Amino acid sequence: MSIQNNNKQLTIGLFGFGVVGAALYEVLVQTPTLNATIKKICIRHPEKTRTAAPDLFTTESEDLLNDDDINVIVELTNDPEAAYRIAKQALQRGKAVVSAGKKIISEHLEELVALQKQYDTPFLYEAACCASIPVIRNLEEYYDNDLLHSISGIVNGSTNYILTRMAEGGVSFADALKEAQDAGFAETDPTLDISGQDAVNKLSILLTHAYGVIVHPSAILHAGITSIQAEDTAYAREKGYRVKLVAAARKLSDGKVAAYVLPSFERPTGKFYDVRNEYNGVEIESNLADKQFFYGKGAGGFPTASAVLSDLSALRYNYRYEYKKLQQADEVQLSRDFCLRVCVSFKSLLHVPHEQFERVEEWVSTEHRCHITGTIHFSKLIESDWWRAPGVSLAVFPDSLTEHRIKERSLSDVFVEV
Ligand code: HSE
Repeated sequence: MSIQNNNKQLTIGLFGFGVVGAALYEVLVQTPTLNATIKKICIRHPEKTRTAAPDLFTTESEDLLNDDDINVIVELTNDPEAAYRIAKQALQRGKAVVSAGKKIISEHLEELVALQKQYDTPFLYEAACCASIPVIRNLEEYYDNDLLHSISGIVNGSTNYILTRMAEGGVSFADALKEAQDAGFAETDPTLDISGQDAVNKLSILLTHAYGVIVHPSAILHAGITSIQAEDTAYAREKGYRVKLVAAARKLSDGKVAAYVLPSFERPTGKFYDVRNEYNGVEIESNLADKQFFYGKGAGGFPTASAVLSDLSALRYNYRYEYKKLQQADEVQLSRDFCLRVCVSFKSLLHVPHEQFERVEEWVSTEHRCHITGTIHFSKLIESDWWRAPGVSLAVFPDSLTEHRIKERSLSDVFVEV
């Protein structure tokens, strides 16, 4: 049964009954007017106690994929390999798919776009980026014609929660991570969150809808928050900043796009400074609209279920992503030809090849930690890994991207010893 014959009844096969799946079930039960019912739920661990009737559950994916009554597959599993297989098979069988699986979407987007076209079947995934913030559909529809200068944001709730708890509650990294896991914000494998991988997966998806480019997340430079030391947050605080993990993309004058995920020093006047806990914030800058800011919960059962629900509702009027920007003639490429103003923190000068900087503005050395503030060409970060070495951390300053190289190269413009 297809949902394209103006039949607005959605019969759902749900994969996964974790934090988000259970929240979605609860919302659908409470709102029968949505014309959407869950017929079967596929899980991996039948021994767990569930909040839905036992006869709804199965461990056989075919019970859902082979059921002709089921016209929508909602994929909310925590197993990326299974998620990929489910999404693919569902599309091939003409079932619409709603997914929150940012990992599979970012890693297989080209194929998933082709499958949607081949089988004329919609695949929606608003929940995959920033949970409750409707960013994908906005990029797809609202910013269709306006020239998009940049999109940047805090797109991972867990790392933002951890950074907030460490900075404001004096909680250790390990305890803050545990809290994020207990609250259901973190991925099943939380390394994905803290390494910046989840954020870069989301950035990769946003790039497709913002600029019409499909980039595998492995091609986008990223770092997480694991290297940030207590001294670094203290240093940032002293200077009036808060540390945030920011995903950024900007269209450059040559038409290419600068994109990265890096820790960022946010100033009090900046939009991200007051984005706390599991909240996300996205700033979009376009030619006509100028700057717009989207703010909302970026993780958790109900905020993520709200995006799934919105996709389900959109399916009822046959909405699908058209990927219009992907079809535009000019192929957009990622750039490595720009500079960033950064603060690098380290224990020993031996760790930092300062000659790689275009310009060094400040060098502060204390007994415990040294900090260099300066401008570095992005290609130097791509081509080297000294800044990923144990004991070294790097954060960008806001609005620090410049397109032109700075001629001057010197270490000791300013030298401060404390
Ligand atoms: N682990 C993700 C986060 C969940 O913390 O943002 C929402 O995508």
